[in-house]
Amino acid sequence: MPKPTVLVVDDEPDLVELVSLTLERMNLETRSAADVATAQRLLDSQHFDLCLTDMRLPDGDGLDLVEWIQRHHAKVPCAVITAHGNVESAVRALKVGAFDFVSKPLDLGNLRKLVSSAIRLAGRSGGETSSHAPRLLGESAAMRELREMIARVARSQAPVHISGESGTGKELVARLIHDSGPRTDGPFVPVNCGAIPTELMESEFFGHRRGSFTGAIADKKGLVQSAEGGTLFLDEVADLPLHMQVKLLRVIQEKTVRPIGEAREEPADVRVLSATHRHLAELVAEGRFREDLYYRINVIELRVPSLRERVEDIPVLATTILARLAYRARLEPPEIGPAAMQALQHYPFPGNVRELENVLERALTLCTGRAIEPAHIRLRSGFHLPEATAGANAGAAPADAAGAGLVNRLENTERDAIVRALEQTRYNKTAAAKLLGVSFRALRYRIRKLGIE
Ligand SMILES: Nc1ncnc2c1ncn2[C@@H]1O[C@H](COP(=O)(O)OP(=O)(O)OP(=O)(O)O)[C@@H](O)[C@H]1O
Ligand SMILES: [Mg+2]
Repeated sequence: MPKPTVLVVDDEPDLVELVSLTLERMNLETRSAADVATAQRLLDSQHFDLCLTDMRLPDGDGLDLVEWIQRHHAKVPCAVITAHGNVESAVRALKVGAFDFVSKPLDLGNLRKLVSSAIRLAGRSGGETSSHAPRLLGESAAMRELREMIARVARSQAPVHISGESGTGKELVARLIHDSGPRTDGPFVPVNCGAIPTELMESEFFGHRRGSFTGAIADKKGLVQSAEGGTLFLDEVADLPLHMQVKLLRVIQEKTVRPIGEAREEPADVRVLSATHRHLAELVAEGRFREDLYYRINVIELRVPSLRERVEDIPVLATTILARLAYRARLEPPEIGPAAMQALQHYPFPGNVRELENVLERALTLCTGRAIEPAHIRLRSGFHLPEATAGANAGAAPADAAGAGLVNRLENTERDAIVRALEQTRYNKTAAAKLLGVSFRALRYRIRKLGIE
């Protein structure tokens, strides 16, 4: 097999030599170019497995070269060398398609890691997911697009922020990004940022040295170090207290970590993915989330659509999830009868796929025959189905005149309850939702649906 070849683009001969020597010791072939035009000519004339470019070049900008490569040689992974501390340009490079960056003065250890993960990546067949990985189901346009985005961002090292309502599949998306990228053999470390007590956070994230505070009886490895060579997934990142946000910024920006009680910083090679169901930009505007961290973790944003936006995915999701639940319970999977399926497709699923799972789990327990019927589908209390399927949820035949009357009566009762709760809380929807025991989103949905002003 021929040696993988790397193109080094830089106009400083010393740096080119240092990089070339380092790479040749890794058993790689190198070529160099001192400007953009030469680099483009070389890229057009031979195959490269990686391009490593400086930002400032005599006849142009490293970013332009990154963009050009994206357009003309999209298969060649490209990384940039940035001036020390110039995070802005690193972020811009990631946004236009660079998969990673190293900063000057070059840390050769970091450079080696970057190169070896890029070369491993090039050898993989187009970021396919291994067959044992859970699949992201759904054939709606939105889901297809999401799967394409996942494949695309998987090869990059850029931080990705995953937004979407509760239960839409954000964690599943994060795992797929990890599994389909070059870090797949490294660890995937999910952290629920809302679940760690504030006073333990620093030690949990960065670790500590023995004796660095009362109770530190042994060295402890932090979550960042546990994710070395892999992915750190900051779930519910909006819950990070401000002082931790500053510290995490350093991990992302400098790629270093310092355990409590340790004098020196250690290099940290982790890819940071994050998620929240909250609106991060709004929290930034309110001063509850640091703007600088927001820009770093949000280099690429993926939005996972709610189930309401892709009702057409409900049948395949329901069928597959039910089969999985039945398999786990060692049961023959029942069918989902047409009326039950229709009921599922009419329900707005404020809790998204997770709620669909819960509904199906209950249905599986209630179902004794061979098919799931509307009577087995128990939705949130207070919810009723639109007229066409209203009777279905009550376990009777589809809507007749009596059914429609019942719907009206239920709607009136619900409207009264909501209006009363709103009045009691002086029209504070968050408080009213709490009072009614439903989520804010569910309340907002009902308010709109019932036409309450
Ligand atoms: N498109 C999908 N295909 C198959 N399963 C899915 C899909 N989306 C979500 N799921 C399943 O739904 C459940 C919830 O997904 P996940 O935990 O990833 O959601 P989340 O957005 O992180 O939720 P939360 O906001 O509650 O943390 C999981 O069991 C997941 O496997
Ligand atoms: Mg989650």
